Amino acid sequence: MTSPLTSRFPYAKGSDGARRLGYGADYNPEQWPREVWAEDVRLMREAGVNTVSLAIFSWARIQPTAGTWDFGWLDEIMDLLHAGGIGVDLATATASPPPWLTTAHPEILPVTASGETVSPGARQHWRPTSPVFREHALRLVRELATRYAAHPALVAWHVNNELGCHNVYDFSDDAATAFRTWLRRRYTTLDALNHAWGTAFWSQRYSDFDQILPPRLAASHPNPTQQLDFKRFSSDALKEHLTAEREVLRELTPDVPVTTNFMVMGGTKGMDYADWAGEVDFVANDHYVIPGPQDRDELSFSANLTSGIAGHRPWFLMEHSTSAVNWQPVNLAKTPGELARDSLLHVAHGADAVCFFQWRQSAAGAEKYHSAMVPHAGEDSELFRSVVELGQTLEALAPIAGSEREPARVAVLFDWDSWWTSEHDSHPTSRLDYHREALDWYSALLRLGIRADVVPAHRADLAAYDVVVAPVLHMVSRTLTKELTCYVEGGGHLVTTYFSGVVDENDHIWLGGYPGALRELLGIRIEEFGPLLDGDTVALDNNTTGSLWTDRITVEGPDVDVLAGYRTGAYANRPAVTRRTTGRGSAAYVSTRLGAEGLTALLPELLAPAGVSSELPDEARGLVETAVRRDADSRYLFLINRSDTPVPLPGVTGDVLIGPAVAGDGLVLPPREVAVLRQGAH
Ligand code: GLA
Ligand code: GLA
Repeated sequence: MTSPLTSRFPYAKGSDGARRLGYGADYNPEQWPREVWAEDVRLMREAGVNTVSLAIFSWARIQPTAGTWDFGWLDEIMDLLHAGGIGVDLATATASPPPWLTTAHPEILPVTASGETVSPGARQHWRPTSPVFREHALRLVRELATRYAAHPALVAWHVNNELGCHNVYDFSDDAATAFRTWLRRRYTTLDALNHAWGTAFWSQRYSDFDQILPPRLAASHPNPTQQLDFKRFSSDALKEHLTAEREVLRELTPDVPVTTNFMVMGGTKGMDYADWAGEVDFVANDHYVIPGPQDRDELSFSANLTSGIAGHRPWFLMEHSTSAVNWQPVNLAKTPGELARDSLLHVAHGADAVCFFQWRQSAAGAEKYHSAMVPHAGEDSELFRSVVELGQTLEALAPIAGSEREPARVAVLFDWDSWWTSEHDSHPTSRLDYHREALDWYSALLRLGIRADVVPAHRADLAAYDVVVAPVLHMVSRTLTKELTCYVEGGGHLVTTYFSGVVDENDHIWLGGYPGALRELLGIRIEEFGPLLDGDTVALDNNTTGSLWTDRITVEGPDVDVLAGYRTGAYANRPAVTRRTTGRGSAAYVSTRLGAEGLTALLPELLAPAGVSSELPDEARGLVETAVRRDADSRYLFLINRSDTPVPLPGVTGDVLIGPAVAGDGLVLPPREVAVLRQGAH
């Protein structure tokens, strides 16, 4: 895989200079009196904390008025942390503009699609394209970088915070101006834009770039390509803010790596992180578990995708929670063992640092009920004891620091353009959920005990995989069609689903029958889609049940097998799942939503031509998740017990880095526990 990522990872170093895994949290000392600071450092040392993210929301404290700066407190904290052996991932502090700035310059505030101005009072109330905000933000970055350039505690820069968390879509006049500039760059001429946007439809033809607006509240469905380009533009606008801050940092501190915390989790879809990854020195991610039947599958999926975005190099888990969050309808505490297992699942997928939001649970403010490493109850608490224990576990895992994730044989493709467009309004169904479909495939692989990589569609080295699963690959350009065709002709096994291959990069339909760009490769033709009403299902003749979607498929190509047909519904007795065999490769199509359960039943047949099956002993399949990291000398096998029962792993061997000692009959993994075995490199 080629990746523009450098590997400037800020490894935590032990007193002997050896690499360690990073461990720590967001640290917000400005919320506490000075007496607490020394206590914080003492407890951090007790917990094995070696890294903190500092000053994320400190703008108003650092720059109390337009013309005054107060660095004294930050100097003191930086020195204290350094004396305690704790490295600092120093934030640029631009994530929450202070009241003096929004009062003097209300024109930096974002505007919603319906024209309401977002007020200050929370955080991230700034327009990504505001020149006034940019100027003030970069001034702050310059002051910070100048002051701390040579500070020995500084190990990395943390640009802003979760860029786009609250302000990804801004419909202000600044956004309109920047959108036009972005469009001129993309299309050069109005004719090209008019063609791409299909403006012959509904009299939308533009005769001047200045007539173009963001897709603000409109009388009916806004132009779909305008919506798509606005999504692409909005992701780019935040990326530009990231690079603007980064350039100041690189100028002043060329040797200090720069990152920002991504939000590869659940439904966070506004930022195309696959596209951003090349702009940071190392990838950092935040992840929060949203309780539900697939919650830990989603954690694994997100960590796995983060690794894919990072080109399988080590990345930094910048935030997750020790227990409850504060922003869900009901905020559940973690059960015993979950804190460690969740953390180690990220490590299994390539995280070389495990950090939390936040160090000390706030006594005031909107996040006072959000868990932290030091809870309201203080150090004499089960939670803090678990934190200390996790610190020890991570120390035992020090040898894995710097190892890369070993690629699996199966890849699940993930693509932001397809995500954005497949869920647009005015489609055959409004119920399609791109992320859920991708997660269902991943869940099915987990249940079968099959290791898989989740990789960005446009940065994946397809040839490295025996099987490529591309759920709802809706937007397929001519180039991607060629890549997928080459992959299959070269012996690869492609599996795709309903609503794939339907549109080109401008969101125009590939004509002649669906699935358009993939029709020939799949050897099928669909004249009409058959979405299903909520609650409606169709039975397939392989004993699975479809929902959401069906297709009226005609087999056209040579060598197409019907693997399953519809037994009920409007398309009864027609194909539901097909596979075309081409030489050594194959291309399969699944025309309905089977859900994790149905896919678990179907997948073995889809994987069979590639000879892919579980590497786990039978007893452990579905109960244990595996991941592998490796370096020049060793292979590190992660075994994560997903279940509440002990799982025997006969025949699985290696030196135990963490986990139960291997007894007579081999390893038995206790409920919810994680083992890491070191094996010789192959
Ligand atoms: C995000 C933010 C943090 C905090 C947490 C709470 O990750 O970056 O500042 O608000 O959410 O879960
Ligand atoms: C109305 C409009 C048409 C078209 C149809 C779609 O009838 O007049 O232009 O939008 O709805 O159902």
